[in-house]
Amino acid sequence: MKKPFFIITQLLLVFLMACNSTTDQPQNANITSKSFGTLPSGEEVTQYIMTNNQGMEMSVITYGGIITSLTAPDKAGKYEDIVLGFDNLEGYLQDGVPYFGALIGRYGNRIAKGKFTLDSTEYELAINNIGNHLHGGLKGFDKVNWSAKEVEYADGVALELTYLSADGEEGYPGNLETKVTYQLGNDNTLLIDYMATTDKKTVVNLTQHSYFNLSAMKEDVLNHQLMVNADHFLPVDSTLIPTGELRPVEGTPFNFTEMKKVGADVNQENQQLTYGLGYDHCWVLNEGAGKMDLAAKAYEPNSGRTLEVYTSEPAIQVYTGNFLDGTLTGKGGTVYNKRTGLCLETQHFPDSPNQPEFPSTELNPGEKYESQTKFVFGIRE
Ligand code: GLA
Repeated sequence: MKKPFFIITQLLLVFLMACNSTTDQPQNANITSKSFGTLPSGEEVTQYIMTNNQGMEMSVITYGGIITSLTAPDKAGKYEDIVLGFDNLEGYLQDGVPYFGALIGRYGNRIAKGKFTLDSTEYELAINNIGNHLHGGLKGFDKVNWSAKEVEYADGVALELTYLSADGEEGYPGNLETKVTYQLGNDNTLLIDYMATTDKKTVVNLTQHSYFNLSAMKEDVLNHQLMVNADHFLPVDSTLIPTGELRPVEGTPFNFTEMKKVGADVNQENQQLTYGLGYDHCWVLNEGAGKMDLAAKAYEPNSGRTLEVYTSEPAIQVYTGNFLDGTLTGKGGTVYNKRTGLCLETQHFPDSPNQPEFPSTELNPGEKYESQTKFVFGIRE
């Protein structure tokens, strides 16, 4: 009786070893899912917990495609959550939640007075930010329930989110088929791949609105060091619409061409900083659109955590959580005060539909909107 049992276990072992050697899929990279509650509409919200083979974990909910948590190692190898958010759906459904972790569309950032014209048709959008249209309107992509499914990714795990935004939704023309894939790599990277097609000429500018805090909320972001690979930024008017000028950063508080503390110049006497209550501006990336070039880099000295941002987009909005005012209490009871998060929103320029000299955000039927941004999480001793 003993011998056949021994042979079977040996065979099983050989089989398991063979399976292991023929698959690239790391043993412990996986995705699990669970309910995250129900929307007032009755729609179910699912949370996907993505884990790479290093133990890095990222949770995403179908509502808004929101990244609800994301862990990264510090210099001692300790994984901690480095994004702002809430423990439950109710948190995200509160009034005035400033897009924590969400996908932003159809148009990330602002469109002046909520108006633009395409082929002599004027379109009117919701005015939801000091006289302008912001982040897709009253019910932008941050507030819709996306469809989600796990997709193959050999070097980690990937989740594909899709949403069909109907013609006329939030005032935008065209049925917009949107697909966003979050790829969590085993090399502690997060690649976000955006794709969209339309059946009528429209405008698109998608982005991701995570608020990072590399200290894992131990302090605000003023002590983070930041580099932005940009010699110019877009000055704005008092309603945060670009004036059209590409202003050199040299000699201004907007110069982050070398690593510099976020807080170093943020309180300088400066009209642009007054308008934004700090940094809430779009930097024009030196490398332009197309290739995946380094856009920005952040470093938090106590934890040693670094974050690099690569993008195919021509610009990045750097926002230092200036409007957080302590009224929101997030995960684990953390109060979100001014400057507790740093947003690095890769995108096209704000108000491009009304500023023809800016790179175009138009999308025609038959064309494909494609955009990629990669966040690389690391450490520096
Ligand atoms: C953006 C804007 C900011 C602010 C935040 C959300 O990044 O540029 O002005 O609206 O979103 O509070």
